[in-house]
Amino acid sequence: MSHSLKVFFVFTLLFLAVVEAKHKKKHKHKIRHGPKPFLPLIPPFGSDELPPVPQLPPIFEPPSNIPQLPPFPLKQDGEEGQGVENTQQDAKEGIENKLFEVTSIGHWEIISENAGVSAMHINLLPTNKIIVYDAKVYRTSRIKLPDGVPCVPYRDMGGQEDKLDCFAHAVEYDIETNQVRPLQITAGDPWCSSGGVAPDGTFVSAGGFDTGARSVRYMGPNCQNCEWREYDNIFGADRWYATQQILPNGEFILVGGRRSFSYEFIPVEGQRGEKPYFFPFLYETSDIDENNLYPFVHLSTDGNLFIFSNNRSLLLNPTTHKIVRTFPVLPGGSRNYPASGMSALLPINLNDPATATKAEVMVCGGNLPDAFHIAETTKIFLPALRDCNRLTISEPFPEWESELMPSGRTMGDLLVLPNGDLLLINGATMGTAAWWDADLPNYTPVLYKPEDPKGLRFTVLKPSQIARMYHSTSTVLPSGKIWVSGSNTHNTYRDVDKFPTETRVEAFSPPYLDANFDKYRPQIDEDASEKELAYGGLFEASFSVEDGAELTKNNIKVSMYSPPFTTHGFSMGQRLLFLKIDELNVQGQEGSYRVRVEAPPSNAIAPPGYYLLFVVYRGLPAAKGMWVHIQ
Ligand SMILES: *[C@@H]1O[C@H](CO)[C@@H](O)[C@H](O)[C@H]1NC(C)=O
Repeated sequence: MSHSLKVFFVFTLLFLAVVEAKHKKKHKHKIRHGPKPFLPLIPPFGSDELPPVPQLPPIFEPPSNIPQLPPFPLKQDGEEGQGVENTQQDAKEGIENKLFEVTSIGHWEIISENAGVSAMHINLLPTNKIIVYDAKVYRTSRIKLPDGVPCVPYRDMGGQEDKLDCFAHAVEYDIETNQVRPLQITAGDPWCSSGGVAPDGTFVSAGGFDTGARSVRYMGPNCQNCEWREYDNIFGADRWYATQQILPNGEFILVGGRRSFSYEFIPVEGQRGEKPYFFPFLYETSDIDENNLYPFVHLSTDGNLFIFSNNRSLLLNPTTHKIVRTFPVLPGGSRNYPASGMSALLPINLNDPATATKAEVMVCGGNLPDAFHIAETTKIFLPALRDCNRLTISEPFPEWESELMPSGRTMGDLLVLPNGDLLLINGATMGTAAWWDADLPNYTPVLYKPEDPKGLRFTVLKPSQIARMYHSTSTVLPSGKIWVSGSNTHNTYRDVDKFPTETRVEAFSPPYLDANFDKYRPQIDEDASEKELAYGGLFEASFSVEDGAELTKNNIKVSMYSPPFTTHGFSMGQRLLFLKIDELNVQGQEGSYRVRVEAPPSNAIAPPGYYLLFVVYRGLPAAKGMWVHIQ
């Protein structure tokens, strides 16, 4: 060993010793009340006696009779400032480029009475199946393993007894039939793991609890009746509550996890991972309640990773391991688990050269740094944060821009819709993540229009009747509906409780699915469209609109969406791009079109893999998104 190496080695050891000492001091109290204790010291509701199930009122009463405005004629006066001197052509352009004015506040339906498992982790796959999995640690669910599949032996945590687990903890949910297929997990527990879809369509799930903390599980690619391929002991550190993000080269990075102040990469299937990279930022942002778990990670347009933990954020170059930039602290509280705010990357607009490399993130809700501690020890639930904040991460010195949501939200999901609007859904208005630590569900989804002027961006939508609290999830379907499931605020499955374990699945139809607008909804002709894209290359898609004489290059958009992996209020890998439209050509019949579009220019803008492509006409997304692939 050379002298300089020795010096470096000694310094590293010293540094680690200091960090370790500091960490021990900081986490002393954890022994008493870490999140998710196996046997919580405080009984959830006092005794074995179950509380009555109250019918909680929705937070927002929807207006009882919403006027159904006809779609046409659209507003002729006002905003556009059309004077008498305007030519008729100008007026027509102004009108036809406007968004449809949909006044609906959405619609809820139950699409499955029992998905078998409570949907703690989900990902829509290119096979139109949603992979759904829960924790194994409960040793129960509402679906058994199929006949002929052997039960999984395990050792009981308390009793040191050998037992058999005959329940399925994962299912494949068919979005066309709403039926499930139970799946067996035999190796490490995927409880509080991460996930993502690899460039070839393979679902890759990483980390979890106990023997699962260093596991990787694979499903697929693109096969019917696949089973998991599981590998334990792959990683150099435990990845329990870590975040997974696909990189431009198609690899996955894993960031953080409980007491893992590092990141590492998921190796090729079957191989051991390389050493983790120590990442002090995660340690520095860990506080009394941690609040640094499931960090919000977004891939910026320059290939760097935006990482947000607690109330701080930075840009990391995942290749050189250099911190490229640090951003201003976001005041107001803690945003990551267990305070559990929400975050998304706003749509990237490639159709305008001025915005083609702009990357902006949003961070909303959460709770105060000690809200979890207070909830755990006193069962007093602090109100969730109400602020929503935007930061342009592609600028050198951006500032947070804040606004207020109609309601506070913790443990909610922030989904990007195919038309570029965002949806805040699920979660609670009081308390934090973790078992028994929240109250007053936020039944009410809220629409957010990022392009509208500040103050006019939020619309309160129709509330659900079902509480979707801790361990609930949601995802955008190709139909534009939102699949909503899960919610289990306990350490087991409970049928009767203030918040019973939910295995029902709902579909929420956002306003753009209002049936009054069906005749304006683009229908993509998949057989006449290209589905295999090349970076920067032109490709074509055919579509028709029933009442579609008015379409121009300027009143349609083409979006490309990567369905995320969602757990614990964060949708990993979620990304929506508006593609550059080259040309719109009318085909034979009226209302029939062929659009020529430029595929994303690089793998930093769009990491390789499967995306859902939508044609959007004046704010209405295509009736069914089409799977496309880029590599
Ligand atoms: C950021 O979070 C830390 C840890 O919870 C807290 O101590 C600090 O006061 C916060 N900073 C601001 C500006 O809110």
